[in-house]
Amino acid sequence: MQETIAAAQGNDAVAALRTTLGADLVSLPAEFGGRGFADWSGTPAREPLALIRPRTTAEVATALRICHQHRQPVVTQGGMTGHAGGACVLGGEVALSLERMNGVIEIDPVGATMTVLAGTPLQAVQEAADRAGFMFALDLGARGSCTIGGNIATNAGGNRVIRYGMMRDQLLDVEAVLADGSVIGGQRKMIKNNTGYDLRNLLAGSEGTLAVITSAVLRLRAKPRAVSTAWCGMPDYAAVTTLLGRAQECLPAGVSAFEVMWPNYCDFVRQRLPELRLPLASDHAYYVLLETCGADPERQSAAFEDFLADMLDDGVIADAALAQSEADVAAFWAIRDAPAEYPRLIPGRISFDVSFAVSQAGEAAQRCDERLRARWPQATILVYGHLGDGNLHVVVQEPGWSDDAIDEVKRVVYELTGEMGGSVSAEHGIGEEKLKVLGLSRSPAELAAMKAIKLALDPHNLLNPGKVIAM
Ligand code: FAD
Ligand code: LAC
Ligand code: ZN
Repeated sequence: MQETIAAAQGNDAVAALRTTLGADLVSLPAEFGGRGFADWSGTPAREPLALIRPRTTAEVATALRICHQHRQPVVTQGGMTGHAGGACVLGGEVALSLERMNGVIEIDPVGATMTVLAGTPLQAVQEAADRAGFMFALDLGARGSCTIGGNIATNAGGNRVIRYGMMRDQLLDVEAVLADGSVIGGQRKMIKNNTGYDLRNLLAGSEGTLAVITSAVLRLRAKPRAVSTAWCGMPDYAAVTTLLGRAQECLPAGVSAFEVMWPNYCDFVRQRLPELRLPLASDHAYYVLLETCGADPERQSAAFEDFLADMLDDGVIADAALAQSEADVAAFWAIRDAPAEYPRLIPGRISFDVSFAVSQAGEAAQRCDERLRARWPQATILVYGHLGDGNLHVVVQEPGWSDDAIDEVKRVVYELTGEMGGSVSAEHGIGEEKLKVLGLSRSPAELAAMKAIKLALDPHNLLNPGKVIAM
């Protein structure tokens, strides 16, 4: 029966996968049962030739060995929350989902590490760390659905990068399967490991093009005993950068989040999500969600209040709301997490994830808005982001836009990014969406080095072809 169905596919690789791994691990389109294959990028969702759902690293290795023998392309899929189309099937690939490789293998409280399977959702990792008395530092709005494997593969950023770094900074080791089925890396827990090329860091941000990540050893951090949060209304961009510098200098525990929202973003929240209450009644040129977290609750909260008072006295902050309870903290962050509602509220939007020097990000946003408005005066344009990291998210939409208009909007934003020496992807990755604009942020020599690495590890271009780098 198995052979009959697979043969009907007319694909030797699929037949071999099904025969070797069985129907439980390898399903065919007729058995997908309405499963969705879209991520958050808007890339058209095609069905794979087959869906592989392994339970072990050995099964991943067997699957890739078979695909290698048959020169069968593979797309690796995590939680499908990516914004770059990296997990989307472009046509003719099999999909390999890590959804069954879900769970914490071990927490080592002495070394503050967690060993985890790649398909584990980020939130499950955060909660397990919390139960063990630690914090897992990566945090982003898709926490309930995105997976650790996807976070590593995209080198995800999020809300606390300014203090703890990106996903690569939370990694001690990564176990992964290469295109030919060989297994690299493992479950080493040391911080120091200078043994040749750092393959772990090569895989962070490789977006499924170099290997399938199967497990990782994560670095845990001390759980902050005190978190202080404020919502600040700012008079101008110079004040935003002054606040950032002064907070880094003066707050005893440093800055753990510095999220900035432009007025158009807050107006959108006010109008479209009236259940969310903006913390300040007054209008300002920018809004900053400022957070510090540390170990000494009394000292920290007094220092935070004094700092805010100084900033108000100096005219750096025009007005501020200090979170007085966990409910206030949640309410402030709910405004910042509003992008989770975009698919419902702004269908057909075009999203950008660009970065600039912090000193230039304000000007970049303004120029971007001006150039877009000159062409499309009625468009919805929202700007917000992890400004402490120079990372802007720009969302643009006008109902009924043609494909040509969409291409033109992308050209405007990416050309400006290139002109200002910015990056066309700060944290979401290149995927399929930004393949053509990678050259705006990378030199020909860099692109050639990337191709050489890709060909060395995946000579037949089987892992996520058509993503990240044009071969
Ligand atoms: P997927 O979307 O399934 O895949 C993403 C890429 O990783 C694909 O190229 C895929 O092939 C590859 N991949 C997945 N798993 C593996 C694996 N095990 N081995 C090898 N390759 C693999 N991102 C940020 O960086 N910062 C944010 O603040 C942020 N906020 C978000 C908020 C919302 C509401 C949403 C929906 C998304 C947000 N994202 C953010 C984007 C997204 O959540 C991240 O890119 C996330 O890391 C993707 O994880 P995933 O498991 O969903 O990966
Ligand atoms: C955010 C996602 C889009 O920061 O990266 O909201
Ligand atoms: Zn982001």
